[in-house]
Amino acid sequence: MSSLSPLKNLNVYLLKYRWYFLFGILCVILSNVFSIYIPVFVRQGIDDALFVSRISSIPNSNILYSGALLNAMGFGLAILIAAILKGVFMYFMRQLIVVNSRRIEFDQKNQLFKKYLRLDETFFRNNYTGDLMNRITEDISNVRMYMGPSIMYFANILFSFVLIVFQMWMVNHTLAMWVLIPLPFLSYSIYRVSQKINIGNKKIQEQLSIITTKAQETFAGIRVIKSFGAESSFNKDFYQSGKELKKKSIELAKINALFFPLMAFLMGISTVIVLYIGGLEVEKGLFTAGNVAEFIIYLNMLIWPVASLGWTTALVQKASASQKRINDFLDQKEVVNPGTNAFQFEKNIELVDLTYQYNDKNYPALININLEIKKGLSYGIVGKTGSGKSTLIQILSRQLSVEGQDYLVDGRTILDFELSNFRSKIAYVQQDVFLFSASIKDNILVGAEREVSEKELQEVLKLSTLDSDLKLFNDGIETVIGERGVSLSGGQKQRLSLARALLRDADIYLLDDCLSAVDAETESKIIENLSNTKKSKTWIMSSHRVAPILNSNEIWVLEDGSITARGNHKYLIENNHFYQWLNENQQDL
Ligand SMILES: Nc1ncnc2c1ncn2[C@@H]1O[C@H](COP(=O)(O)OP(=O)(O)O)[C@@H](O)[C@H]1O
Ligand SMILES: [Mg+2]
Repeated sequence: MSSLSPLKNLNVYLLKYRWYFLFGILCVILSNVFSIYIPVFVRQGIDDALFVSRISSIPNSNILYSGALLNAMGFGLAILIAAILKGVFMYFMRQLIVVNSRRIEFDQKNQLFKKYLRLDETFFRNNYTGDLMNRITEDISNVRMYMGPSIMYFANILFSFVLIVFQMWMVNHTLAMWVLIPLPFLSYSIYRVSQKINIGNKKIQEQLSIITTKAQETFAGIRVIKSFGAESSFNKDFYQSGKELKKKSIELAKINALFFPLMAFLMGISTVIVLYIGGLEVEKGLFTAGNVAEFIIYLNMLIWPVASLGWTTALVQKASASQKRINDFLDQKEVVNPGTNAFQFEKNIELVDLTYQYNDKNYPALININLEIKKGLSYGIVGKTGSGKSTLIQILSRQLSVEGQDYLVDGRTILDFELSNFRSKIAYVQQDVFLFSASIKDNILVGAEREVSEKELQEVLKLSTLDSDLKLFNDGIETVIGERGVSLSGGQKQRLSLARALLRDADIYLLDDCLSAVDAETESKIIENLSNTKKSKTWIMSSHRVAPILNSNEIWVLEDGSITARGNHKYLIENNHFYQWLNENQQDL
């Protein structure tokens, strides 16, 4: 049973939707009660009809005859009514339980997606996108099969089995026993076949995701493939994966083909037993022909629950495996966020002896960083590629978790502040631009929490000098940029993400080497624009060249994760050799 323990996490949903489940199960019981009447009416109808045909040859039996005929017809009508009622309750049991599982699926998807959004950068580096996608599609849909169909079938199996066996037992003990003998075999073999089908399905899913990833990568890297003339090797690779998929699909089809013949075979055996033993009993006069028909109907009614027991068990196992994977994600540690206070920044931010090391590295990316950021001033971080500039900015923006004592705001630990509130008060431009495949305007408006006026929009376009570029696009700001912005140049992408950040009414602006692909002339124009806007705000900008940061109030020189010098441009030029060197060789880095 311990293999099913991951499903415990779903009990909250059972509780949340308990009325659906309770009424659903009530409908299961009622539909079974009505269906159990059908064979009884069939037996009585047949026996009456046989009686009618026997007495019709006897003279002067008119009254008896018409009475029996009426009876037989009455049973026919009763069968019809019972069948209708059974159908009605079956409809409601599906509505209540299976339809409800869609609600649970919806809840669970949202729960998982919300969780994803709260996890930090490290998590996304350690998990493949395809895997994350599978959790939220495949696995959740497996779990839905448990929360809906499986629960319904289990209830149905239980009640129909008890009712039918009881009914058979009342009619004839011996025959009931004989009929039940093949059933465990049926159930077990269906269980095994279902398991095989599930395994086959899983293999196909895996192969499919390999193929999807391959196709995706091929299209994304089509320029590399073409320029290196690698088409044929990619084609061969794709062909092989497709062949593998075909093989696995055919294997599965073979197993699938076994399913119904197997059921029919075992059912046939039981039917033969009923006919044979039932026939003997009829001969002895212990049983009527109607009883035989009744039994065959019971048997038919039993087959489905017994077969679905095996199938449902396999479903539950699959759901449990899926839920375990989902639980693994739900149990992931989120970005440390114990604080509840709104972010307030009056005087200064300090980093105290901060050292940061990435999990998968054996040396720290930042070593003993001590610095003070005063409100309303501008700061520059300069250093070679790999010196730790982006890491420092990610720490300041709390993309990476810190201890708390090493990151202080007005003397309070940063962990006092609520994370999302903190983030709403910073504007962070990443070094690696990410754009959505939407219009330029929508990309700029990502994260804008308020109504943005046309004037504000024009303003940020001007500050980032995007306005002149937009004139060259057919649809201007409404131009839809291709997947991840492929239709824009590197510099345009960077300026777009700068515009996006400038639109925010933030306390602190963090710009991570965000003009590296912009030409020198445009760069100096942007820097000048920026120095004339939002002067009361705090600016921190990193760059591997001196030019963009040289007007900062204070510049920090980063070398291999350590701050080796600080001061304004004039001071550093006079006192720091490395800075001088950077300044002179800035185009070559
Ligand atoms: N996500 C990461 N995982 C592991 N190591 C990283 C990661 N990002 C950066 N590093 C390492 O940290 C060091 C500093 O990198 P980074 O902060 O990106 O420098 P810069 O922005 O100055 O180029 C480098 O040695 C780099 O390899
Ligand atoms: Mg960087």
